[in-house]
Amino acid sequence: MIKVFQSLWNKKQEKTLPSLSKDNVPSHVAIIMDGNGRWANRRGLPRIVGHQTGMKAVKRAAIAADEIGVKYLTMYAFSTENWKRPKDEVDFLMRLPEEFLAIELEELIEKNVRIHMMGHPEDLPPHTIAAMEEAISRTRNNTGLVLNFALNYGSRRELKEAFRKAAEDIAAGRLSPEVFTEEWIDSHLQTSGIPDPDLLIRTGGELRLSNFMLWQLAYSELWFTDIYWPEFGRDHFYQAIAEYQRRTRRYGGLS
Ligand code: FPP
Repeated sequence: MIKVFQSLWNKKQEKTLPSLSKDNVPSHVAIIMDGNGRWANRRGLPRIVGHQTGMKAVKRAAIAADEIGVKYLTMYAFSTENWKRPKDEVDFLMRLPEEFLAIELEELIEKNVRIHMMGHPEDLPPHTIAAMEEAISRTRNNTGLVLNFALNYGSRRELKEAFRKAAEDIAAGRLSPEVFTEEWIDSHLQTSGIPDPDLLIRTGGELRLSNFMLWQLAYSELWFTDIYWPEFGRDHFYQAIAEYQRRTRRYGGLS
């Protein structure tokens, strides 16, 4: 019976989806998940309920991305600036990765998803690192969607660290200035080995990048929506993809 309902539900969903081309699916989608707090405030609920509900939207986005053939999905889960929030909220956010993985890891493994993390693990609590490390290790050989969590990630810190390494290597004679190229920088960022995002989605109505992937987003298509993250679902994801497919990417050249 449940299967019948599920398949009816899926059929209904299919009808509401915009028609998408299978040939022009963004390889890498990055998401700034914003609006959890406002979603909760509107309902008279504590902000953490917004984050908790936002966790479910992470799963919906991952399934939608996987279904359509996106190869990399990067989620901005915690920024280097988010430590400025009240301690209770930070503590709660630091528990979410392990809660998410405790609920979803088995299904993600079944779906051949590979978990990845970018950011600065050295500042994270041991329980958060342990949960991420376990998920990364258990999905290491998976070949499907790469679900990349940006946790304690900040683009300026990422760039500063790469540039400092270049400066040290040049000073020590290990790197010649001619080899300090865009490719060198690419390969010394946290996204080394991952292509730049083709599409950036930001929910919650704000129109800014908030220190997210400043180098990597140079030629990404940007899609903003007023929808608060906890409400973000498969239809919104596919709306963004449909809009992406209507755009012409010129990379500074002529079309
Ligand atoms: C921004 O909304 C959101 C965050 C700082 C946290 C995002 C985290 C999640 C959605 C859950 C992550 C889940 C996993 C599995 C790691 P906000 O709080 O700034 O919202 P506001 O602008 O409305 O206040």
